[in-house]
Amino acid sequence: MALVCLTDFQAQARERLSKSSWDFIEGGADDCITRDDNIAAFKKIRLRPRYLRDVSEVDTRTTIQGEEISAPICISPSGFHCLAWPDGEMSTARAAQAAKVCYITSTYASCSFEDIVAAAPGGLRWFQLYVQPDQQLNKQLVQRVESLGFKALVITVDTPIPGNRRHDIRNQLDLKMSLMLKDLRLPKERNSIPCLQTSALSKSLCWDDISWFQSITRLPIILKGILTKEDAELAVKHNIRGIIVSNHGGRQLDEVPSSIDALTEVVAAVNGKIEVYLDGGVRTGNDVLKALALGAKCTFLGRPILWGLACKGEDGVREILNILKNEFHTSMTLTDVSLEGSCYMEYSPISSAAPESYCSLRDSSPIPEPP
Ligand code: FNR
Repeated sequence: MALVCLTDFQAQARERLSKSSWDFIEGGADDCITRDDNIAAFKKIRLRPRYLRDVSEVDTRTTIQGEEISAPICISPSGFHCLAWPDGEMSTARAAQAAKVCYITSTYASCSFEDIVAAAPGGLRWFQLYVQPDQQLNKQLVQRVESLGFKALVITVDTPIPGNRRHDIRNQLDLKMSLMLKDLRLPKERNSIPCLQTSALSKSLCWDDISWFQSITRLPIILKGILTKEDAELAVKHNIRGIIVSNHGGRQLDEVPSSIDALTEVVAAVNGKIEVYLDGGVRTGNDVLKALALGAKCTFLGRPILWGLACKGEDGVREILNILKNEFHTSMTLTDVSLEGSCYMEYSPISSAAPESYCSLRDSSPIPEPP
């Protein structure tokens, strides 16, 4: 059967993966209320198309942190891609490079960061850090990825401990995951301490630590997992350069708002001072359009990338990205969002006069092509 949308890949991935791998990828925390809300909340929003505007040239390109991407559809960090495909993150990186989108590589990538970079040297990559209790290790990791050419440091803030995922507990997945955890230290730094001890999460991370990270790297710092205006305001105050509105795909604290519902509050709080992105439940081009209409600069995909990998490796990830890009192009064209020629588009937030459950994109004046 032809795979024509992201949920086609989901169905096929389920057939291909072992039960424990499928459960790990699909799982949410506790009752999975937030995981399911991430999808359902998108479906409650209706679009307001504007017609009789020239849509002969629709351009999906945009920029994040000053770097051009082919569409506002990028790859969220997820660990252990080798569970889905033997080449794991190397395939993901190649597909992201081919699609000209950003790939946020997880601390818990199953391939080494060096191998990932070598597989796709021209790709745009950010590094996601699960802050480790050992500060020296954090410093080494950050400086290592900076020298490998990663362009931003994404600190995940919603994971002082792993969420309570019932299927993984039933499947006794912990041990399998522990065996896959690699030693995060450079070979010359390794000693007799078993790697598990170097892969715990820091429970003491707080706002005061941000300046320490800023002192050890020139990379822009982005926080992943912010859901409230209070934290968004603090992020701006601490010179954070971007926020990914995210609830970890509903895998951490259950019964928090869906990402798309939390987006508006965060966008209003940062008031254009920094870029805001979103992940969680993005499955169609219309979802991307809605997120952008509500103020996100870019969306990111979690599970769909793993479905693509499980079905066809690198080709599958490339197809996932292309399908979504084409759908988004169609959504833009049918809602008459375009600018003449190959100008960049700037996405504006929903007009305050519009009912909450409706959104539309407004074109702003064209931004010239970068030199
Ligand atoms: C994740 N996520 C995640 N986040 C993170 O910051 N670091 C990580 O290593 C992982 N690992 C991970 C593994 C798996 C299997 C999943 C499904 C998710 C969360 C991820 O980055 C993202 O926030 C959500 O997956 C987005 O939701 P969707 O697109 O899966 O609905």
